[in-house]
Amino acid sequence: MSVKLLPQSSFLSYISRTPSRRWHSSKFFDPYKSFQSTSSPQPEWKLGDGAIKGLSEHGKSPRKTWILDEMSTKDSYKLLTSAIIPRPIAFISTIAEDGTPNLAPFSYFSMISHNPPLLSVSFSLSPRRPKDTRENILATKEFTVNIISEHFIEAANVTAVEAPADVDEWIISGLTMEPSSQVKPACVKESLFSMESTLLAHDILDLKTSDVTNSLVLGLIKQVHVNKSVLAENGLVLDPAKLRPVARLGGNTYARLTDTFDVPRPDWKNIRDAVKGSGKNLR
Ligand SMILES: Cc1cc2nc3c(=O)[nH]c(=O)nc-3n(C[C@H](O)[C@H](O)[C@H](O)COP(=O)(O)O)c2cc1C
Repeated sequence: MSVKLLPQSSFLSYISRTPSRRWHSSKFFDPYKSFQSTSSPQPEWKLGDGAIKGLSEHGKSPRKTWILDEMSTKDSYKLLTSAIIPRPIAFISTIAEDGTPNLAPFSYFSMISHNPPLLSVSFSLSPRRPKDTRENILATKEFTVNIISEHFIEAANVTAVEAPADVDEWIISGLTMEPSSQVKPACVKESLFSMESTLLAHDILDLKTSDVTNSLVLGLIKQVHVNKSVLAENGLVLDPAKLRPVARLGGNTYARLTDTFDVPRPDWKNIRDAVKGSGKNLR
């Protein structure tokens, strides 16, 4: 299945035909929203200047503190997942030992190194049922991680359904399998960037103070596939304006990327004299 964005006119007529109760937000998603690159918030910033003054009220607000040991896991989930944002999402394809394919999203996910090329993903160990993705990775040691773009976020989201292990999330999502080269689980054809990975290490995170509640997987990225349409001019870097990745925030909220800005990395040679000459009096 090739996924195309609806032309503006069909998109608008689709909206007008859709019952309003389906739309919970006050504004419609604009698939054509332009992607812009702006200046950084304070381009005139100088050494020692600190944060922008006068633009925010945060300085006047007191702190509230929680001790994590004393919180319910439900509350710590709400607090941490709404604070540590935006999180990239690993859309993971695996195959069970009996051959059943599985697809699900996970946002406790990060790239941890490019040399060696490693990623991490962690699974909550629910007492209700094991996560099929984790079981499959531990059993077969193979998986693919696919980056989610705006054009298939609803299809990806539906695969998070807590369904029995024999339910094929590929079918309910309507997404398409693209055969992998080095591992058995398929890549997601609609994904513009996919990584074929093998299990490098696994650890259950047992703090000895409570039940074992989480499981960390480190994956070795063996091979990646990029849809050529998202490559920037030099052919090696992906253009975020074309990739249109979706990130996870707290609750059921997702975020899109529409604004970027560059802040040059300081060169020690250029700031050395100012730093050494000023002692502690940069302000
Ligand atoms: C965007 C998104 C991110 C998620 N991230 C995680 C995660 O990092 N870890 C986790 O254990 N569950 C996470 N979940 C929940 C799983 O996707 C859900 O439990 C799913 O049913 C697991 O599928 P599986 O049993 O087929 O592996 C997430 C759900 C969504 C919608």
